[in-house]
Amino acid sequence: MTSLPVIAIDGPAASGKGTLARRLAAGYGFAHLDTGSLYRAVGLSVLRAGGDPADEGQALSAAQALSPGDSVLTDPALRGDNVAHAASLVAAMVEVRAALLKFQRDFATRPPGGRGAVLDGRDIGTGICPNAEAKLFVTASVEVRAERRVKELQAAGLHAIVEIVLEDMKARDERDSRRAVAPLRPAVDAFVLDTSALDADQAFSAALTFIRSRIGPA
Ligand code: CDP
Repeated sequence: MTSLPVIAIDGPAASGKGTLARRLAAGYGFAHLDTGSLYRAVGLSVLRAGGDPADEGQALSAAQALSPGDSVLTDPALRGDNVAHAASLVAAMVEVRAALLKFQRDFATRPPGGRGAVLDGRDIGTGICPNAEAKLFVTASVEVRAERRVKELQAAGLHAIVEIVLEDMKARDERDSRRAVAPLRPAVDAFVLDTSALDADQAFSAALTFIRSRIGPA
């Protein structure tokens, strides 16, 4: 059996990787998995149960209970910054990551629609899909990313203060990059795309040029 093409997109918070992943998936007719939503779902499940996301036992139970059709995966509360914080705590736990590995690999090897998959996250090119045909590492300065996140939160009707979002983002970058398990870093064969000075269309066009060179036109 020949394997289906996989596009791996990694990068820090609010770098624009989610938007890129959705547009590439739509263009190629591939299925898309936002793997951050899995870690967010684990964090949210623990918070909803009145628990502590820093507790490994509680986080692991929530990760083991997560299944592909779970309604928590599409819950609007997933996008909150308190949930992002909880997600980055549970994401530093080896056993939680191991519990979510199968979900992600199954999606990559047998994607809905059967044409190919786009996965975005922090360790797709380095750990989940090391043999992906195309790997992108999408980044931007922390100041630009904080501004983007403030706009996203405001568009969702939430109150956001740029200084606080910036500090939260720096703390999360630090935790994601320094953790012992699956730290955020580009794969050696990833195309690094800095979107600091690019709008969404420019970032998409640069990404598409690279993806075409790897897997051909959409
Ligand atoms: O949307 P944003 O980039 O802010 O965050 P996200 O992609 O939803 O990820 C939330 C958190 O989950 C991150 O800060 C990481 O700690 C963790 N995560 C991870 O460790 N590995 C992944 N593949 C995806 C997310």
